[in-house]
Amino acid sequence: MNTDISSNSAEAALRERVKELSCLYDIARIVGRHDMALSEILQGIVDLLPRAWQYPEITYARIVLADQIYTTRDFRESSHRLSSDIRVAGIKKGIVEVCCPEENAKITNGIFLEEEGNLIEAVAREVAFVVGTREAEADREKLHEQLQHADRLATIGILSSGVAHELNEPLGSILGYAQLAKKCPGLPRQAKHDIEKIEAASLHAREVIRNLMLFARQAPSQKKSVNLNDIVQEGLYFFAARCNKYDVALAHLLEPGIPYINADPAQMNQVLVNLVVNALQAMPDGGQLTLQTKKSKSHVSLIVSDTGSGMTDDVLENLFIPFFTTKDIGQGTGLGLPVVHGIVTSHGGSLNVKSVVGRGTSFEIHLPVGKLS
Ligand SMILES: Nc1ncnc2c1ncn2[C@@H]1O[C@H](COP(=O)(O)OP(=O)(O)O)[C@@H](O)[C@H]1O
Ligand SMILES: [Mg+2]
Repeated sequence: MNTDISSNSAEAALRERVKELSCLYDIARIVGRHDMALSEILQGIVDLLPRAWQYPEITYARIVLADQIYTTRDFRESSHRLSSDIRVAGIKKGIVEVCCPEENAKITNGIFLEEEGNLIEAVAREVAFVVGTREAEADREKLHEQLQHADRLATIGILSSGVAHELNEPLGSILGYAQLAKKCPGLPRQAKHDIEKIEAASLHAREVIRNLMLFARQAPSQKKSVNLNDIVQEGLYFFAARCNKYDVALAHLLEPGIPYINADPAQMNQVLVNLVVNALQAMPDGGQLTLQTKKSKSHVSLIVSDTGSGMTDDVLENLFIPFFTTKDIGQGTGLGLPVVHGIVTSHGGSLNVKSVVGRGTSFEIHLPVGKLS
């Protein structure tokens, strides 16, 4: 009899070991799946866990990783709980837990076996391994993207400085002669109309080239003591006409007595123009454009807000990448914001965007209050 009992319990113990080992084996297989997203892998592991435990049907599992939670269906908390931290390079990233509700009559010889404590630790190590690997891959990817971006910037810089100079001259002629031709007496209406189109197109091209040259830092910055309110005030006159055309109400809230900054006024003007053009283009059916200045102890801010289309997360992520544009050819070049970014950072400033799809966008630029050095 005795031998029977012990062989029974040896058999039960063996069964448990087999369950645990096959669970670990299955986990190792999921962890090796490079075609699965981390979230799918973690959910897969959670779903595998209960069957390795003594009472699979009343065992619930949960993995918490940063702010993500993965659980088996109908997960319930219980004071009967085994857990192990997920540590990547010594830093706690989350926890693996297994819970067994205690009120079950079936349970006689303790809810958890000793080996199950080891098992959960082994599972946590597997999870840590896959999390660590995925983090390293993401870092590598990001670095690669940053390098590519830097590469692209350098290429654009070299290309544009040459091309821009070459184009500037013929473009000047086109524009100049178009303006002369427009003044020709007795010009048929259609011809005048066509010439105006040539004029508008060359003005647009000139703007593109100016942005390119700024982008390639061809135009050297000439810093002096500048009042941001003056820049906005001078711009208002030009913006008013365009706002009228777009059926946009223009408001300005300029903080009085704003401190001077050490900046290139032409570049500051370019920042303002680029932001205003974007704002107007985002409000084809009218809206409200607000130009605001503010001061704090160490910074002055320029805020350009619109009540236009707003931006999706996808657009927000790519805003400052050169040539990224959602606009039609002739409408956008994708250089406006990279130029803004370049100018602002070269002035030691920073930039902030808030945008809600369908509600509008607000760009905030902060520039350090500066004494002329
Ligand atoms: N105020 C805004 N509202 C909505 N979208 C904007 C705004 N400003 C910029 N964007 C988005 O950012 C993109 C990049 O802007 P920008 O660098 O100025 O290039 P471009 O205006 O030539 O497309 C735009 O194509 C547009 O999708
Ligand atoms: Mg633009």
